[in-house]
Amino acid sequence: FMPPSSGGSGGPQAAKDRLGNDVRASAWLEEHGPGDRSLVQGLQGDATYLVVTESREIERFAINSICTHLGCVVPWNAAENKFICPCHGSQYDAQGKKVRGPAPLSLALAHTSVSDSDVVQLSPWTETDFRDGEAPWWA
Ligand code: FES
Repeated sequence: FMPPSSGGSGGPQAAKDRLGNDVRASAWLEEHGPGDRSLVQGLQGDATYLVVTESREIERFAINSICTHLGCVVPWNAAENKFICPCHGSQYDAQGKKVRGPAPLSLALAHTSVSDSDVVQLSPWTETDFRDGEAPWWA
């Protein structure tokens, strides 16, 4: 079963806020400043971080929050400039690249885009993982 909003086509899907509404880029950027990493509901319903660039745009990649160890949602720690998993201490850098285990892998990526109607969209990342030059383990 796939809920209607998930499509399942592999194409772009709207990022959803916690109320289930489409995320609007302009409103998001009013509330979230440079360097911000905040969660939306992303592909397959996974909690996913949108990143705001230093030039106040939606970063071209989003970061899946699901720890690659045992699946806890990993909070962003702005003071440490890392994602730090509360469950067993794995750490990921600001782009979600694993820097400390026990997690075996980096956080998954998704592409972002902004539609003509200002909706932030996510689509599957199937290309090389730019953080380590490897094939994406999640694709
Ligand atoms: Fe994140 Fe174990 S689930 S470190």
